[in-house]
Amino acid sequence: MQAIIIYGTSTGSTELLAGYISDGIKQAGIDVVIRNVIDTDVDDMQDYDIIFLGSSTWGEGDMQDDFIEFYDAMAGLDLSGKKGAAFGPGDSSYDMFCEAVNLLEERLKDCGAAIIAPGLRIDGDVVEAEEAAIEWGRQAATALV
Ligand SMILES: Cc1cc2nc3c(=O)[nH]c(=O)nc-3n(C[C@H](O)[C@H](O)[C@H](O)COP(=O)(O)O)c2cc1C
Repeated sequence: MQAIIIYGTSTGSTELLAGYISDGIKQAGIDVVIRNVIDTDVDDMQDYDIIFLGSSTWGEGDMQDDFIEFYDAMAGLDLSGKKGAAFGPGDSSYDMFCEAVNLLEERLKDCGAAIIAPGLRIDGDVVEAEEAAIEWGRQAATALV
């Protein structure tokens, strides 16, 4: 079983989160690769059993800029039989807190993937959330082994 984490980031927060989550997934004994969304094609997801998608939220509840094209390209994709989960950093002083996580979770479901963990939404400094993010990755992956 192999997992992929695909992230989009503007200032590095989602990339940091992706690293923490991968540590947790590895602790559960599952192989994982981390890819920036700008270097990833939607079809690449077909090579993995578990798909973690991460994006920060910008504007008025928008996806991170680099993720928009990938998110749009996912429409109509068949991910049935695959497991998935979404994560992202945000700031609860905004009305649409971590809306990108909701959007990614919905898209994974629309593509037929089974959601294996409730979306991880980190409010504020992601460094302070290191342990929580590792644990989230570990628990999500543990459920599968
Ligand atoms: C102009 C601006 C708009 C933002 N809008 C939102 C928002 O609507 N919802 C939210 O949860 N966070 C919002 N944020 C917070 C970012 O998502 C947060 O800083 C995040 O850690 C950035 O992650 P990244 O570096 O991976 O892109 C906003 C930040 C800025 C500067």
